[in-house]
Amino acid sequence: MKGIILAAGKGTRLYPMTKPVCKPLLPIFDKPMLYYPLAVLQQAGIREVLVIVPPDDKEPFERLLGDGSQLGMQISYQEQFVQRGIADAFIIGEEFIGGDSVCLVLGDNVFYGKGLRDCLLKAQQNKTGATIFGCYVDDPRAFGVVEFDAKGKAISIEEKPQHPKSNYIVPGLYFYDNRVVEIAKRVQPSARGELEITSVNNAYLELDELNVVTLGRDFVWLDAGTEDSLLEAARVIQELQHTTGHYVACIEEIACQSGWITTEELCRLGKALEKTRYGKYILSKCKG
Ligand code: G1P
Repeated sequence: MKGIILAAGKGTRLYPMTKPVCKPLLPIFDKPMLYYPLAVLQQAGIREVLVIVPPDDKEPFERLLGDGSQLGMQISYQEQFVQRGIADAFIIGEEFIGGDSVCLVLGDNVFYGKGLRDCLLKAQQNKTGATIFGCYVDDPRAFGVVEFDAKGKAISIEEKPQHPKSNYIVPGLYFYDNRVVEIAKRVQPSARGELEITSVNNAYLELDELNVVTLGRDFVWLDAGTEDSLLEAARVIQELQHTTGHYVACIEEIACQSGWITTEELCRLGKALEKTRYGKYILSKCKG
């Protein structure tokens, strides 16, 4: 399975912060926002990743993550020249996806939870159809919202409904089989002029091949798209790391846990950052 991070949003809602630096490179507490979706793909066991970036913005991403070899991964970059919506990721990424299945994660979504790795691995192992998630939120109107029947089966998904049919929203993490490329090509732009990911999900729903996994209330899902949610995300990460002593989205640690790099390589990565608490944390993971 291949992985795509859609990190092409200009982040105009965060101007002036995102004038010199695009949104996925802003920090959430102690690391760039992009680390969080990358860590999700790593935990799903995905080593080949395409990062879709804004036009003329490849360079800072490359400076941050390079070709991914330091993490035992292959990371490449492609620009999205016109903001055509989330489903465009599969059209841009057609060649990268090739004949594989694919997981898409949005560049400003943060996930954390005890059972996350198992949940991701399970979704990754589904060979056909689509797997998406449902998260409970108090106000679902700004998101894709799932409607369930009495047996708990998903029966519709609506994008940003004024009258939501449930409190379960679809977060920015989607697993699809290879048909997603053709499905995305057939999607018609919505009223807001975008190729909606909700249209892709509804296409799988019509085929009766959409699996919606609801995440427990103890799962943390954050969308860092506004100044308030960005600060909130930073606070949550700070608190989590402080109370558990475990860092969220330490991509170097995950690479080593996955067996993609050796402890010696992890140690080298930590040394290069040793003046920071983040680097010291990495170094603490190299010992014996
Ligand atoms: C997008 C999707 C929406 C999803 C959300 C998750 O919304 O269209 O279905 O629930 O991401 O972050 P947008 O960021 O375009 O408002």
